[in-house]
Amino acid sequence: MVVPRLIERKRAGEALTSGEWRALVAGYTAGEVPDYQVSALLMAVMFRGLDPSELGALTQAMLDSGDRLSRPSGGPSRIDKHSTGGVGDKTSLILAPLLAACGVRVPMMSGRGLGHTGGTLDKLEAIPGFMTRMPLIDAARQLDAIGVVMFGQTDEIVPADRKLYALRDVTGTVESIPLITASIMSKKLAEQLDGLVLDVKVGSGAFMPKLDDARTLARTMVDVGTQAGCRTVALLTAMDRPLGRTAGNAIEVVESIAALRGEAAGDLMEVTLALGAEMLMLAGKAVNRAEAVARLKATIRSGAALDKLREVVRWQGGDVAVIDDPSRLPAAPIVRKIRAGHNGRMPPLPPRALGEMVVAMGGGRRTAADEVDPAVGLEILPRVGQSVQGGEVVAVVHARTAADADVAETSLLRALDAAWQRHEQPLPLLLERITSEHSEPYGELQWDR
Ligand code: URA
Repeated sequence: MVVPRLIERKRAGEALTSGEWRALVAGYTAGEVPDYQVSALLMAVMFRGLDPSELGALTQAMLDSGDRLSRPSGGPSRIDKHSTGGVGDKTSLILAPLLAACGVRVPMMSGRGLGHTGGTLDKLEAIPGFMTRMPLIDAARQLDAIGVVMFGQTDEIVPADRKLYALRDVTGTVESIPLITASIMSKKLAEQLDGLVLDVKVGSGAFMPKLDDARTLARTMVDVGTQAGCRTVALLTAMDRPLGRTAGNAIEVVESIAALRGEAAGDLMEVTLALGAEMLMLAGKAVNRAEAVARLKATIRSGAALDKLREVVRWQGGDVAVIDDPSRLPAAPIVRKIRAGHNGRMPPLPPRALGEMVVAMGGGRRTAADEVDPAVGLEILPRVGQSVQGGEVVAVVHARTAADADVAETSLLRALDAAWQRHEQPLPLLLERITSEHSEPYGELQWDR
């Protein structure tokens, strides 16, 4: 393999063969191909893209760079959900125990927050003692024993992505749909799934804010998953405002526990149930959406979903008592109520600005090495479109210091005023459903299909 010739061919828009992609990924992972050559190649991919067979070959080569989560033959369906990330997006915390309580095996391998978005691992680690780092063999054992495990990517899974992602991060090559697809799908395929539900966010707080880009990303990931033998469905969902009423770590755990008790905000439950219904249908446990949603709601009502969360917390070393007494979670010393300046309808607040406020208070990371403060965050009380009266409490800031609370209060009031003046129409919460066969607007879906 003469790497400069491969770079030149890709630069000219030619397709590389699957053998060439395999050799490149293996050589790079082994340290035999230097960063500077791979950087040039990644930039060529940014401009020239990858054809479907190259994308399949790159994804497979990345998958083959590491181990897979072992699975016994037969047994219940193994289904996961992946979100492209947002603010207040705690659906993984709710769906993993909920689906496991319905008899689905859920290997929820998640990430940490980076930039303005939160991460499932940081939220879980707000539970005192909860461990998300474990070898793959332990993750597989827990999955077999209780039907669910919520853990972080280890060095054993797709080591090629670890190196490639770090390189993309510093070479301006993150925002490439084929590179994002190969990165996400190689890690998901390493879980040896029967089915995968993708929650691709759209709107100002999303990784791909524009509908067309989000749709292309969703279709590309669905095609790669399907071709690799994993039935894959994507929902496009709104991230033009935060999801649910909390953004932070411990406070999102509190809201997730409330959801598993059937007491969560409407928008959060709408997205959670839509994603959960797709997971149940992929697992063959419901024949249509209406049946799936009824089963999910019954599982919440029976207390089985919350019991499953208790089991997960116990298995992963966390303080189980937080489930019945969330006041045991880390709490911020300063809790400040923010009141609306005048009457009006609650506008969609920009998730990016809100996420950045949480990061500024220490609830997220500016660099991968930063420590996260689990206690801080924001609550946004009214739902979008709800009428609010001047003087009514619309938000609550949870801060480590009074100075942080002051800054967050000023930023929140400014964001609220600006949003009020923009008169922006919120996106529909559920925009589209994309499968390998077709795409359809979610609002027009037949619930008996
Ligand atoms: N998340 C990933 O895991 N990889 C990407 O390339 C982008 C987002």
